[in-house]
Amino acid sequence: MDNIIKVEGLSKSYSKFGKKKALAVDNVSFEVDKGEVFGFLGPNGAGKTTTLLLMLGFLKPDTGTIKLFGKENDDMGIRAKIGYVPENPAFHKFLTGKELLNFHAELYGIKEQKEKIVSEMLKKIGLEEAKGKKVSTYSRGMLQRLSMGQALLNNPDLLFLDEPTLGLDPIGIVDIRNIILEMREQGKTIFLNSHQLSEVEKVCTRVVFMKQAKIIETYKTSELTESLEDLFIRIIGKEI
Ligand SMILES: Nc1ncnc2c1ncn2[C@@H]1O[C@H](COP(=O)(O)OP(=O)(O)OP(=O)(O)O)[C@@H](O)[C@H]1O
Ligand SMILES: [Mg+2]
Repeated sequence: MDNIIKVEGLSKSYSKFGKKKALAVDNVSFEVDKGEVFGFLGPNGAGKTTTLLLMLGFLKPDTGTIKLFGKENDDMGIRAKIGYVPENPAFHKFLTGKELLNFHAELYGIKEQKEKIVSEMLKKIGLEEAKGKKVSTYSRGMLQRLSMGQALLNNPDLLFLDEPTLGLDPIGIVDIRNIILEMREQGKTIFLNSHQLSEVEKVCTRVVFMKQAKIIETYKTSELTESLEDLFIRIIGKEI
């Protein structure tokens, strides 16, 4: 079974004051195979983050099923294999970057190799120099880098990224690209929400377009005959 993510008939609406609002995710189904870097694209408000939060189990669906590694997504055993970079990373601000990664390494149950793993991660995410500074003093991009480091500490087989390059400088963008490509080489699976289409083009094996809570198109990146930006404008711009 090469299927790492299997989502079927997923729907979710947010309610306000007990009243159901419009659907944020409407009968969405897709599968992601092992080794895929799966780009989830669409305009603001399309339902991308909601879909991701449903997969992670942070939100409960109205209908539908979500299987990760062939198991229900609330199975505790699969949590250890997953990494997640949220749309708006938030951390314990009183810790330094290094202390924060140490703390998360402990949460992951990393013991003997902790010092080495944390120190290598700080280098990998470009925070070696800032490792002793309090997280409260970190810039937007530094927080984004830290979030990536935290998500990678357990060497996950499945990584969920929600706008991982937001706020990053060009070097940071290339760093994230290289991390994704390295993971792809290793046969890991990545689910990527992003508006950075030039990056999506470079790293993704497949892309889907979501609009108004529905998946409307799927493409293999290798088969694209136009730039992803042109395709996005063509697909998202047209009426459904
Ligand atoms: N906590 C919430 N309460 C109520 N409505 C919400 C909530 N979060 C999202 N929504 C609504 O659900 C819809 C989908 O939002 P979502 O955040 O999933 O979009 P997105 O595709 O991730 O957008 P973006 O590209 O801006 O990140 C939007 O209409 C949004 O207003
Ligand atoms: Mg979002």
